Amino acid sequence: MMVASPGQIPPAPREIPIGASEEELILAFLAEAGEEEFVSGEAICDKLGLSRAEVFRHVNSLRSQGYRIDALQAKGYKLVEVPDRLTQLELRPLINTRDIGSTLHCFGEVTSTNDVAKMLAEEGATHGEVVIAESQTHGRGRRGRSWISPHGRNLYCSVILRPDLPPSRAPELTLVAAVALCEVLQQAGAAAAIKWPNDVLVRGRKIAGLLTELQADTEKIGHVILGMGVNLNSPLEDFTPDVRAAATSLMLERGQHVPRALFTAACFTRLEEWLDTHEAKGFEEIRKAWRDLSETLGRDVFVRADGKEFAGVAEDIDPSGALMVRSGGRLERVLAADVELLRESEHAPHDDPESSGPGT
Ligand code: BTN
Repeated sequence: MMVASPGQIPPAPREIPIGASEEELILAFLAEAGEEEFVSGEAICDKLGLSRAEVFRHVNSLRSQGYRIDALQAKGYKLVEVPDRLTQLELRPLINTRDIGSTLHCFGEVTSTNDVAKMLAEEGATHGEVVIAESQTHGRGRRGRSWISPHGRNLYCSVILRPDLPPSRAPELTLVAAVALCEVLQQAGAAAAIKWPNDVLVRGRKIAGLLTELQADTEKIGHVILGMGVNLNSPLEDFTPDVRAAATSLMLERGQHVPRALFTAACFTRLEEWLDTHEAKGFEEIRKAWRDLSETLGRDVFVRADGKEFAGVAEDIDPSGALMVRSGGRLERVLAADVELLRESEHAPHDDPESSGPGT
């Protein structure tokens, strides 16, 4: 993977992270210079207060971890390729958010990043801490579904949020995250759109999903775990035959491998921006953006909610994020349900991303 190869995923502006290891500092410095520029050994020594021998040792250690760093005697070092891993080493130089991802917990394999994040939140983890894993053995989706999580291909992460909101407003956060995720996918070259409440689809196929879990008392939210699963580099074979037709990945959509660390950093940046907007201006701004990105509004839908099933037309989301569906002359307010998008003038349910659980 090239340092800044994706073109469509702009890296977050970088700053040297506080408290970073010497290897992270060197990487951040080289990454800052970009793919084209050599950085002199002397400049690295001066900037980081290291000796030539220490820089050389760290560069060799980075190479042994999969980094390709070119060296020219008269010019210095150039970072040419970084390994496609999601560890502190790859992520920290790219992350430049205030809260989201400023503390990272990176794992090779976990049951579910939401489970680990919940445990950390109960132990006092702060707003914005993120759990990331290369694979999940029990990745979870909405409504008891599973989320297929093959090793090293996609993004599986959970963000711990501690918003100053009453519990009744927690569902808004899922829509905030759906807007952020959808925009990053669009920026990365996919024609992404949101299916209510929180699936991101491309050409009607599911590319990403969100699983939000809440801990609250009657007055106040304790924490929200925002689980995000994005199919980045999965080939179709990763999806089981029953969901294959309803799933996709960013690589399949744009025909190019996705640099996962860059994508992840871009998600954190955009999520923080939209969370800030939500905090400063309220849900109305999110509602506007969500409407613009929606694939649901104006469509014929089939709703399955707590034993109740009906067809109708999705008209809008209300000021709390509920879907408003016109059915048999009545306007139904849908809060927790499976919503299937029907094709034009179709009134019976059929294969649908959500009902067949793509990416799961
Ligand atoms: C859905 O569309 O049903 C939601 C899928 C959410 C999957 C993500 S992957 C990271 C986090 N950990 C989990 O176990 N689930 C979420």
